[in-house]
Amino acid sequence: MTHAWSKLEQSAARLSAQHLRELIDTDQRFESLSFRHEGMLMDLSRQRIDAKVISELLALAEERQLKPAITALLEGEHVNNTEDRAALHSALRLPKSAQLRVDDQDVVSDVHKTLDRMEQFVNQIHQGQWRGYTGKPITDVVNIGVGGSDLGPLMVCEATNQFRPEASLNIDLHFVSSMDGSQLSNLLLELDSETTLFVLSSKSFGTIDTLANAATAVDWLQERSGLNRELLIKQHFIGVTAAPEKAVAWGLSEETLLEFWEWTGGRYSLWSAIGLPIAISIGMQGFRDLLAGAHSMDKHFEEADFTSNLPVLLALIGIWNINFQDIHAHAILPYDGRLAHLPAYLEQLEMESNGKSVGIDGSSIAQRTCPILWGEIGPNAQHAFYQLLHQGTERVMCDFIVPARRYIDRESSLQEQHQLALANCLAQARVLALGDAALTDGVERPTWQRYFGNQPSTVLMLDELTPYNLGSLIALYEHKVYVQAVIWGINPFDQWGVELGKKVANDLITALNNSADHQYDPATEGLLAEIQNLRGNEQ
Ligand code: F6P
Repeated sequence: MTHAWSKLEQSAARLSAQHLRELIDTDQRFESLSFRHEGMLMDLSRQRIDAKVISELLALAEERQLKPAITALLEGEHVNNTEDRAALHSALRLPKSAQLRVDDQDVVSDVHKTLDRMEQFVNQIHQGQWRGYTGKPITDVVNIGVGGSDLGPLMVCEATNQFRPEASLNIDLHFVSSMDGSQLSNLLLELDSETTLFVLSSKSFGTIDTLANAATAVDWLQERSGLNRELLIKQHFIGVTAAPEKAVAWGLSEETLLEFWEWTGGRYSLWSAIGLPIAISIGMQGFRDLLAGAHSMDKHFEEADFTSNLPVLLALIGIWNINFQDIHAHAILPYDGRLAHLPAYLEQLEMESNGKSVGIDGSSIAQRTCPILWGEIGPNAQHAFYQLLHQGTERVMCDFIVPARRYIDRESSLQEQHQLALANCLAQARVLALGDAALTDGVERPTWQRYFGNQPSTVLMLDELTPYNLGSLIALYEHKVYVQAVIWGINPFDQWGVELGKKVANDLITALNNSADHQYDPATEGLLAEIQNLRGNEQ
């Protein structure tokens, strides 16, 4: 155990008897524990901390060499050690004037060349110049991808829908990810094959879920048109990948391929050509605003002193809660329906990055790492799982995410609805912290009506939800994840834990297709027998 770690353990013991309502009730609490970067306020005043804890957490960051680790990330060192490569998502949002050469690649120039090609594609689609097999302009774009090739673009498109320029309003966007074809089968009933464009997004171009959906889409186009595969793929597919040779082998032509690079992790890829649906939705200017917001957070992460550095502090608060407060559940609660997909996006970002128990050097990690993340639009979750937050036995840390202003220049009833959401957000953060001390009526209540409080939360308040501020918010979480990985000594950029299941599923496809020749564990054999039995009854 290190010096900083044991100091924090002592602080945890020192504060253990204190309820959050006592900690909150100190002078200048909000002023000293809320932090700003441009259009974002991060309020940590409802965390179970005091000034001593913050300084001990900062000492821990120093002890774990956080500063050089940040430089290593941003300068393109091979921080992804198990795959021997950089993790340069921040390079995807560097301005054209920046310079970065990594492993003999002129990164900034390549990034901007791809942005320019994206722009050409977006313009062609917006201006009705991208035409289907009968010469009609495209009206529907379907993104086929999964995980990072789905969740980021889906989340951002939904969050920024109101920023669509006139030129994109004739295009409907759809997202298809599930390998069982549920989403696609419904969608294909509604779409017109003559005017539908598919964006086939896969970093590896080997993900079976995506390839299965793509095969169904090609079949559908062929059935509807009677034309050959090669021609249909050329006119109705754009490929986005870091494995262009595989995409070409599948049938895509280089003219309709957008590339990105191995050093972009799937869950960090919405800033790359994987963001094409975002650019189609909010236009290239909107996409560039998103990148600019993220870049501004990158600069802040790189340059701001740790005492006021938002990603560093957000990460350290997480470390405090997980490792010193024994809290292993983390709720993501946006008080804005436009952020409906943010919880799912962060689930992948955090849990696929830091859900690990082996360190960079391959040894087991002694402490707890990534907690379980889940979430929902806050007001809806109030009517679903907040019961557990207020009166359950589980300690939970919560992130409330809310814009201060919305519906400016809109109907007053909508403005009132936003006030309602804001009031509920503030009320829930208050009650979770204070418990029934938030009541002022002095009435004695039975135990089932009591609120314990003492649940810590962070409020992230945006001035407004714009592409720029959203870019900043996402980059905040990306860097938070990295800081936690540095403290825990793990590699957040690989995901070996998802591989074995894919391999075993491939074996099982063979077993499902030809009945006899397999010997799995009794539980699996039991289910296989049941499926075969039911299929037998069908015939
Ligand atoms: O299986 C997990 C994963 O590799 C994620 O990391 C990734 O975002 C997703 O699958 C999709 O991968 P790809 O973009 O290569 O199809």
